[in-house]
Amino acid sequence: MKTIKINLEKRSYPIYVGESLLENQDLIKDHIPNKKVAIITNKTVASFYLQKLLDILSAEKEIISIVLPDGEAFKNYETLNLIYDELLKNKADRQISLIALGGGVVGDITGFAAATFMRGVDFIQIPTTLLSQVDSSVGGKTGINHHLGKNMIGAFYQPKCVIADINVLKTLADKELSAGLAEVIKYGLIRDASFFEWLEHNIEGLIRRDPKLLIEAVVRSCQNKADIVESDEFESGIRAILNLGHTFGHAIETASGYGKWLHGEAIATGMVMAAYLSEQMGWITEEENERIKSLFIRANLPINPPEISVQEFLDLMQLDKKTKEDQINLVLQQGIGKAILTSNYDTKKFHNTLKKKDF
Ligand code: NAD
Ligand code: GLY
Repeated sequence: MKTIKINLEKRSYPIYVGESLLENQDLIKDHIPNKKVAIITNKTVASFYLQKLLDILSAEKEIISIVLPDGEAFKNYETLNLIYDELLKNKADRQISLIALGGGVVGDITGFAAATFMRGVDFIQIPTTLLSQVDSSVGGKTGINHHLGKNMIGAFYQPKCVIADINVLKTLADKELSAGLAEVIKYGLIRDASFFEWLEHNIEGLIRRDPKLLIEAVVRSCQNKADIVESDEFESGIRAILNLGHTFGHAIETASGYGKWLHGEAIATGMVMAAYLSEQMGWITEEENERIKSLFIRANLPINPPEISVQEFLDLMQLDKKTKEDQINLVLQQGIGKAILTSNYDTKKFHNTLKKKDF
């Protein structure tokens, strides 16, 4: 097992990455000090892993299991309310720990429930998708969608630990594995050129789910994310680069209807659009742009957006949390391994990027 520490003073916590961690009773129990526990998961993940967790914990803990419907379309206020209802019906108090057992949807909504239930209770993350292991479970962004915009309601709230068991990725659908690879590739693009090269050599092995390669990819991704979050926990600056491709991608997700495009697919296309605009600006070479596109294609990710008009793209991108005084800020490339947040792009080239359908 590898451990990455995320250093945030009183909010510091470990990220454990390895095989068979869901069977490691002591590891899980060490991070749940009190008797009452609520495991929050969804129908799909429950069918694979809920019983495993109950077997480990039920001798010593009083457990409430809350099984949510599955899907991005349910990352909303109604589902959040279901969690509050179950906690209150079961007389949960401030000593309860929540366990998020699932992908990014379960992790984000459970984290937000933990941040807000009785003004804050402990929670731990047991991410079960590649995307949630490398990104959403780490760094404390929690929240839900609003029908007018993705992740619009939320809080920064750090978990007590993250337990990433690589074995659970065996049951993940191929499309979901690829969606996770989009966030992995993101770290190479924004700040780690040697990781990008490593991915160019190992992408097919990752798609084959070679456990050693998956562990290395998760560890290197989490290390990159930990470094960024440690230097800018509340996103007043550098953390924004973690949003490479997201301003385009969130617009694709919202315009298509939540759940039609997987989050990882939408941001992969968004990163390809950002790379194209960066090339048009002369900030990356044509060869670098081709390398970026080719890695996403090899990871079985889409690179072309759906039919969205320029105006609709602009309206949705305006809602982005990085927008300041109506100016859309974008994360763009300045070479492979370097990204910046900027409003200093050429508006005509930006609109041409939104118009382009074949990248
Ligand atoms: P998801 O949570 O919807 O999971 C994808 C699918 O895989 C679901 O159907 C789920 O039931 C299933 N699943 C989960 N684990 C499984 C397993 N081990 N075996 C079989 N099936 C499994 O999607 P996701 O890609 O994990 O997360 C996307 C969400 O994460 C989006 O809402 C996005 O906004 C959010 N996100 C948040 C952050 C953050 O910093 N908080 C970062 C990136 C993404
Ligand atoms: N996934 C973006 C962030 O954590 O900031």
